[in-house]
Amino acid sequence: MTGDGGRVELRLTVDGQERVAAVDPRSLLLDALREDFGATAPKAGCRTGDCGACTVRVEGAIAKSCLRLAVAEDGSDVRTIASMADGDRLTPLQQAFWDLNAFQCGFCLSGMLLAGEDLLDRIPSPTDAQIREAISGNLCRCTGYDSIVAAIRSCARPAAPS
Ligand code: FES
Ligand code: FES
Repeated sequence: MTGDGGRVELRLTVDGQERVAAVDPRSLLLDALREDFGATAPKAGCRTGDCGACTVRVEGAIAKSCLRLAVAEDGSDVRTIASMADGDRLTPLQQAFWDLNAFQCGFCLSGMLLAGEDLLDRIPSPTDAQIREAISGNLCRCTGYDSIVAAIRSCARPAAPS
């Protein structure tokens, strides 16, 4: 990183693209992504780590971008839901959310999809309790959660034979 007018150079791989931006060294990762990298999929909700609207994946792990200092993530790989779909082709999880009406206003959708994707990556055939645990850091004011759980459950894959 190099200083320039009080801003510092931050290198991130955002949704698969290596990018560089000059950011305020006090910026949260959420604000740097939205304002300096133009990645607006993560939403600013509570800004206190409670709602999950700002969820991204950093180096593959779920992270609340409102709780991280942007400069601390220099060199990191950051994924948002913007890189989930292949053009107009939704992923099975996105399609399931659509088919099962697992969102209404959509404010929680980014975080819910990433939390669900992360869970299915780690546990291909999760129980409902594991699904509810995985999305417990993501608040939805619209759906009542049952349709979200059903959408994630519908994407479960049989466990590989041991
Ligand atoms: S905005 Fe980050 S958890 Fe709510
Ligand atoms: S769909 Fe509105 S907050 Fe979840």
